[in-house]
Amino acid sequence: MKLFIDCQRYMKGYRILVLFAMSISFFSGCKMKENSPLYLNSSVPVERRVDDLMSRMTLKEKVGQMNQRIGESFFTKDRENLKMNMLNDLQNGLVGSYLMIENAEEYNKLQRIATTSGLKIPFLNAIDAIHGLGLYYGATVYPTAISQATAFDPKMVEQINAQTAVEMRATGYHWAFWPYMSVTRDPRWGRVGENFGEDPLVVSTMAVAAIKGLQGDDYTAPDKVIACAKQVLSDSHPNNGVNVSPAVMSDRLLKEVYLPPLEACIQAGARTLMPAHNEINGVPSHANKELLHDLVRETYGFDGYIVSDWKDIEKLDNFHKVAPNQKEAVKLAINAGVDIHMFGDNFVDELVELVEEGQVPMERVDRTVRAILTDKFRMGLFENPFVDEDKVNDIIANPEHRQLALESARKSIVLLKNEKNTLPLSKSLQKILVTGPLADHNAIVGDWVHSQPDENIITVIEGIRELAGQQMDVEFYNPGDIFDVNEESIAEAVKRSKDADAVVLVIGDNDNRTQTDWNLNHFHKNRTGGENVDRADITLSGMQEELAKALSATGKPVVVVLINGRPLAVEWIAENIPAVIEAWQPGMKGGQAIAEVLFGDYNPSGRLPMTIPRNGGQIPIFYNHRPSMFAHYYSDIKKGPLYWFGHGLSYTTFVYHDLNVPETIVKDQEIPVSVMVKNTGVLAGDEIVLLYVNDKYSSVTTPVKELKAFTRVHLEPGEEKEVKFNLPFEALSLLDKELKKVVEPGEFEVMVGDLMKTFEWTEK
Ligand code: BGC
Repeated sequence: MKLFIDCQRYMKGYRILVLFAMSISFFSGCKMKENSPLYLNSSVPVERRVDDLMSRMTLKEKVGQMNQRIGESFFTKDRENLKMNMLNDLQNGLVGSYLMIENAEEYNKLQRIATTSGLKIPFLNAIDAIHGLGLYYGATVYPTAISQATAFDPKMVEQINAQTAVEMRATGYHWAFWPYMSVTRDPRWGRVGENFGEDPLVVSTMAVAAIKGLQGDDYTAPDKVIACAKQVLSDSHPNNGVNVSPAVMSDRLLKEVYLPPLEACIQAGARTLMPAHNEINGVPSHANKELLHDLVRETYGFDGYIVSDWKDIEKLDNFHKVAPNQKEAVKLAINAGVDIHMFGDNFVDELVELVEEGQVPMERVDRTVRAILTDKFRMGLFENPFVDEDKVNDIIANPEHRQLALESARKSIVLLKNEKNTLPLSKSLQKILVTGPLADHNAIVGDWVHSQPDENIITVIEGIRELAGQQMDVEFYNPGDIFDVNEESIAEAVKRSKDADAVVLVIGDNDNRTQTDWNLNHFHKNRTGGENVDRADITLSGMQEELAKALSATGKPVVVVLINGRPLAVEWIAENIPAVIEAWQPGMKGGQAIAEVLFGDYNPSGRLPMTIPRNGGQIPIFYNHRPSMFAHYYSDIKKGPLYWFGHGLSYTTFVYHDLNVPETIVKDQEIPVSVMVKNTGVLAGDEIVLLYVNDKYSSVTTPVKELKAFTRVHLEPGEEKEVKFNLPFEALSLLDKELKKVVEPGEFEVMVGDLMKTFEWTEK
């Protein structure tokens, strides 16, 4: 009893103390309100800070949060007006986010203005960090997406993006316009290199891995950034292969091929999305409410925000012609679900008027602003808006990041052909000639990379020189840029090959925009691929093939190294050159990785994530086609593509045996599949194991085979391992006539390596 009374007394005293403390904090809170608003108090929960801040904002300031501007360095003199307008917006608290700020200094300078103007709201800083932070001078540049897909290694993709996030935060960026998640089946399109290839499972898996790497479990953590899955939807399916051209497609194609990666990215928590420049079936994506609102928000449950692409709201008026003026364009886009306007003028005043006139509901603006402010508070930008400029160089391209750039480059190279064991080249050769327009060229880093310190990029000739044997004479002849190759330079290359034991010829496409000074007039200079550089003819540009023919005619063993983002129809090369390497765009360490493959220091393991056509007229050509697609062949060319999706050789040999699939499949339960893989050669190597399924007979046609699982396995000479997969039951599904996902009873084939097993599923 006494104890109880003491306890009560104690509690009473405690309550008085608490009351006293609360009143102190109440009065100090009031005082704080006078001097510094509640939303600037970091100990207050984020939701309350957002409420408080929003209660102080005018409509115009709220709309300002939906306004995205570009970094100043992006402007040349002729755009001074725009630059002035942007600065005014910033000083008036009307810029919610930026893109394309050049460096940490510029970021700090602009952020200082933002955080001392109006309500002192910091801006979010976005950039296209698509295979590393390549637009930043001195950052790590990893292989491009098509190259990364070639490694069939989602863990590697996740690590690349985790390192990218670290470099971004150190330099002042919070938001990556990445990953791309468009299934790509048209090599004429210039953006193929930015994508993960033709297979929906590979694209979904890699895009999800990129999101995991960038965002981690909490994208507001100090070493993480916001991801942006793009482009919604099917910009990779332009009717004529030309960027931004309309996509015309059936609901079936949309649901089977293009929607699964989008849904996967949203399920993986992508915080933001970006619509595509183009239209689908007559509706521009930026005005597509059915897509951006009904499907993305209502059906898939997306709760982040959608940033327009470059001036794409304007384009609803001046390009697509679905809005008669800019104000109507803004109304269409915002009401369809776009939250942020990228780039220019013609937005803030228009949206303010639309809300005042009741044409856009206030709640629509509030929803967006709440999401953006929540992220800014959670990322700690109100407390720590600046970055330490002195630390930048210790973090970007640090040794660990360079190492991953090298490892990923190695894994992203495909050995397409190797007759008579032309490769690897012996290090005891007396002399080799290295030539071709891309042998000493930064095309190896692909698109979306700004100029980089010379010492950071290892070109092919630099890699070869480093690795060639001490005694080897490495002769290098540069015939100039792709379009400089001419009869004279071809003759010179042939002359230089005279005493060479072998010739390494480096040719392909150049997607790199380094020569761009961000003035769009120079955008295409010397480029043959990349954004907005589409091609009607996907053979080698200029006289590169003539160069190959002339060198081959010398009778020397010639090795062709292809550098390209899009598959190139190199039929003559595939048929006449004994060894061909598809190196894609292997990034800053690409030259070293290619040299390692050439000399056998690394055993190539990549497999094609995209089919290489024999002729552009075959487009679209992809492995998971319907049975009748090649019932007849073209009468004027040879059958089939040059190389199918999944093709890739090694310097060792792998044998598959004992493919096991259970006899009884249980509805909705995983299907365990196993296979033994043995390295029967004398070199260690990695084997990418691809598992395909075919539904033998079904109510609607289905692909002849479709990838359902994949993995990489490392095997020492003579070693064998059991590779196990757990296939989801859904891997057997198809879309029926009503486009409903079902698994139909019947026989299925599982294919791994050269093995196949049939099993039956019957609904009991
Ligand atoms: C591209 C986007 C990119 C944006 C911002 C556009 O031209 O289509 O993919 O994120 O520019 O740089």
